[in-house]
Amino acid sequence: MTNYQTVAPDETQLRDGTIKLHGPEAFEGMRKAGRLAAENLDALAPLVQPGVTTAAIDDFVRQFTLDHGAVPATLGYRGYAHSCCISINHVVCHGIPSDKTLKDGDIVNIDVTPLLDGWHGDSSRMYLVGDVPLKARRLVEVTYECLMLGIEQARPGAHLGDIGAAIQRHAEGNRYGVVREFCGHGVGRLFHDAPEVVHAARAGTGPELVPGMFFTIEPMINLGKSPVKLLEDGWTAVTRDRSLSAQFEHTIGITDEGCEVFTLSPKGLDKPPY
Ligand code: MF3
Ligand code: CO
Ligand code: CO
Repeated sequence: MTNYQTVAPDETQLRDGTIKLHGPEAFEGMRKAGRLAAENLDALAPLVQPGVTTAAIDDFVRQFTLDHGAVPATLGYRGYAHSCCISINHVVCHGIPSDKTLKDGDIVNIDVTPLLDGWHGDSSRMYLVGDVPLKARRLVEVTYECLMLGIEQARPGAHLGDIGAAIQRHAEGNRYGVVREFCGHGVGRLFHDAPEVVHAARAGTGPELVPGMFFTIEPMINLGKSPVKLLEDGWTAVTRDRSLSAQFEHTIGITDEGCEVFTLSPKGLDKPPY
């Protein structure tokens, strides 16, 4: 049995395992937070160039977020000390900004989560640095398609597993591997909440989708079938065989008709080339 809980927009919310069902005011809050995440990712595009340090990108994200009246939700989150995650090439997710520079041919995921008026807008995109080989560009393209195919499944009456099934089918159809170690998540006043949104699943399984649910879909797709390992820093997740990994993330809300994507780019820059 799945537990759903209707929540008031101003209510303190607990991570109690229930799936929160939100009303119109919460949708309005998520629309604003999601839009800010998208605008931040749009504004980053010209910055992502060979020679730029990931710390400089992180500084930009922090400043942009603060300038727009929000706070980076990752700053101080479980001891994480940065304003975004930057994951290059074989880094699957949670790459830590540093003095490392981007190189020609890199593929990079930048993941931002502004906390605006109490609501989290969580989104990430891939960026291409300079001249990227076709093999890597294809992985990025198919990963974006995986996210959008997952989103297409998101409507009332469908099951959470339908999303993972669509993603898995497309990734494996292209002979890529779906990362199992990390998943999407409920989001709203809380950064990470129920349900877990797995990116490989059987259709018809999992909780039924109901209007008012907010969650992320954020498939990580690998060039190989390699498992993921965590580096000593406790955050950076990499493919064990160092094969390339790509990820895109949107935050969505289930509506009566289907779903609303809160983190769409106002400029149409949802995927590269930008
Ligand atoms: N934004 C990431 C997500 O999609 C979470 C990053 S948590 C951090 O869920 F602490 F690693 F930054
Ligand atoms: Co997320
Ligand atoms: Co994210």
